[in-house]
Amino acid sequence: MSTKNNYFITTPIYYVNDKPHIGHAYTTILADVLARFHRTVGDEVFFLTGLDEHGLKVQQAADKKGIRPQLHCDEMAPRFINLWEKLHIQYDDFIRTTEKRHESVVQSILKKVYEKGDIYFDEYTGLYCIGCERFYTEKELVDGKCPQHDRPLETIKEKNYFFKMSKYQQQLINYIDDNPDFIQPKHRKNEILGFLRQPLDDLCISRTKCRLNWGIELPFDKDYVTYVWFDALINYITAPGYLTDDKSFKKWWPAVHLIGKDILMTHAVYWPTMIFSANISQAQTIFAHGWWLSDDSKMSKSLGNVINPLDLIDKYGVDPLRYYLMREMVLGQDASFSMESFIKRYNSDLANDFGNLFSRVSTLIAKNFENTIPQCDELTEEEIKVQKRAEFVIEQVHELIKKMRINEAIEEILQFIRSINKYMEQQAPWKLVKSDKLSAARVLYTASESLRISALLLHPVMPNRSEIILDTLGSIGTELKWGILKSKKILKKHAPLFPRIKVETPMVEKIKTTVQENVITYDEFEKSELKTALVLGAEKVEGTNRLLKLQIEVGDEKRQIVAGVAEYYNPEELISKMIVIVANLEPSTVRGIESSGMLLAAKKGKELSLIIIDSDNVESGTRIF
Ligand code: MSP
Repeated sequence: MSTKNNYFITTPIYYVNDKPHIGHAYTTILADVLARFHRTVGDEVFFLTGLDEHGLKVQQAADKKGIRPQLHCDEMAPRFINLWEKLHIQYDDFIRTTEKRHESVVQSILKKVYEKGDIYFDEYTGLYCIGCERFYTEKELVDGKCPQHDRPLETIKEKNYFFKMSKYQQQLINYIDDNPDFIQPKHRKNEILGFLRQPLDDLCISRTKCRLNWGIELPFDKDYVTYVWFDALINYITAPGYLTDDKSFKKWWPAVHLIGKDILMTHAVYWPTMIFSANISQAQTIFAHGWWLSDDSKMSKSLGNVINPLDLIDKYGVDPLRYYLMREMVLGQDASFSMESFIKRYNSDLANDFGNLFSRVSTLIAKNFENTIPQCDELTEEEIKVQKRAEFVIEQVHELIKKMRINEAIEEILQFIRSINKYMEQQAPWKLVKSDKLSAARVLYTASESLRISALLLHPVMPNRSEIILDTLGSIGTELKWGILKSKKILKKHAPLFPRIKVETPMVEKIKTTVQENVITYDEFEKSELKTALVLGAEKVEGTNRLLKLQIEVGDEKRQIVAGVAEYYNPEELISKMIVIVANLEPSTVRGIESSGMLLAAKKGKELSLIIIDSDNVESGTRIF
């Protein structure tokens, strides 16, 4: 990511019929993480979010409260704005579709499309879902009900205005084919292309005021208001200045639209055809993420399984929540939210790995180097290895985020942090300070610099707590390069960053563990790093019938291990096999030969079989869980 770009990222604009839940928070945090990341690499960023304030749902919510829809919107808007503030969302614009600037752009586009002949008047009978604010065709229903809301639809018969969506069907197919990154991930693109194999219906874009008057009036018929989706999608061009500020619009458009999979159709079919008709260039990307499920079902008020982000923020803090949401969801797939997995993730990654490294390093420096990051003039081979790894991780993280593989980018950073914890254990600076203070200084400088780089890489995800680390290290600037940390800066005092969350073990589980004594916790299991390794060379160890000496590749690292498998395998048989090793086992010496790791095999009686990966697609160094 070396060239500097303009980066325009959007979230869906949220309906104000209900208060925000974890699903809304997720999309907004994701956009914020991407926006912050792009800012750190020097891109100019425009991050847009906002509220969808028209339509039947909002009108009904206002009716229920017995107030005017605008007042209802004004009461609801601060709930979103306050939550975004609490979640440290740094947006650049917050659009509300009831704003004048938006209403006039919607009316101008309607006029343009109408004058072009792409809007016509007709009678229509259709099945309407208020939840989705859209008509469905019979073939889209599941058991005669709305596929999103699992409830019956209303049959509506009325005269309405229609947008000639069908006119642009082939143009849209061609566009999707020619621009493979337009709809992401790939399976969502295929879903849309599959849908477009059927003839596309035209889109009803008006609602008669007799039924609904909470909307933007059609510029060519005072008895109608605009269909809420035709109105809402236009927010994406209102905000950057379409028709009002050419320079700004040119600078920012096209956008990257982040959406949930529930609104793929409206974004990947309605929106692009509207854009074709209005003669504007298409968005850059429409990226649909999966749903956060609670008890394996979509969160909804009616199911009573909605998770309120505010409860979690108050109890565990903003950054751990942001971290969990970003780390647990594979972009494009559904993920399950549970308190159990939240606590597990927090304790293992944040309390154990990241928090532990930070407190170890800062305590040792405070105690032995008078609160000053020690001077380090020369690095040994070990430290050069750490430096190389840091440089590799920086590159890797940039690549992964560019490909929207955020959870993998985070795991990459955590692997690096774990490797630094391991380096600390191997080097034991707490012992070194007594005998070789210079070496202890070198180790603590290396660990501090690794910590600085990790905190910077995690900054878009956890801006606050990363800043505390950077502040403590006296780090100024955001340079993602090895060797920036100044040796003389003073460390300040800090409170524990990620105090461990104590889990009450339920009675039943307690009983289980007393019955089965060899049970280990997940945290204990996670300590073993099982990895794939490619055998590059193998030979018998002289003077024994039992041992083979193997040269192996584990990712970008070469190692040697000694294994007691010579009675079962000839050395040549093992070459090019992808085996599995315990990669973080303390190195040992077997018959005077160093062995770094242990291979895994199944053994019963006289039979032994190595665990071998049977796919060519798995690279060496891949972690096994
Ligand atoms: N107003 C429309 C969007 C118009 S955009 C031009 C709308 N609003 S919504 O309030 O229903 O929010 C929908 C978005 O919230 C989803 O697309 C998704 O981004 C997010 N989520 C809502 N529930 C969700 C989950 N359970 N999980 C993940 N995200 C979900 O549709």
